[in-house]
Amino acid sequence: MTPPARSLADVPGAPPPGSVLCRVSELGPREARAFQFREGHFRYEIFVQRWDDAVYVYRDSCPHLRLPLDYRHGVYLDREERHIRCAHHGALFRVHDGYCVDGPCKGRYLTPIAVERRGDDLVIA
Ligand code: FES
Repeated sequence: MTPPARSLADVPGAPPPGSVLCRVSELGPREARAFQFREGHFRYEIFVQRWDDAVYVYRDSCPHLRLPLDYRHGVYLDREERHIRCAHHGALFRVHDGYCVDGPCKGRYLTPIAVERRGDDLVIA
């Protein structure tokens, strides 16, 4: 079952709920953008993946070893642009729900982040 969306409200360094994270139209149809929130040594990373008219937001942390997924900053899709791919050991995740369909964490999920879409704005929920 898809895990519940994680609120950023208690993440140190994250903008408060109601803040605009980005505008959807700033991203190309298969483009992603990484965000990093910091406070002291604490760091929390998320990414927004656009998929045509939809957008999905996940914590940038692979369920296998809790490493960031991207192999180049802000690139999360595999070469065929069918799945989100972890650069470390090749786990493949469905874009629309973060379910791992293949790899060392098969059957587990990426952590979705609580956001709302308000027109073109993606807002932290
Ligand atoms: S850390 Fe992602 S597949 Fe191993």
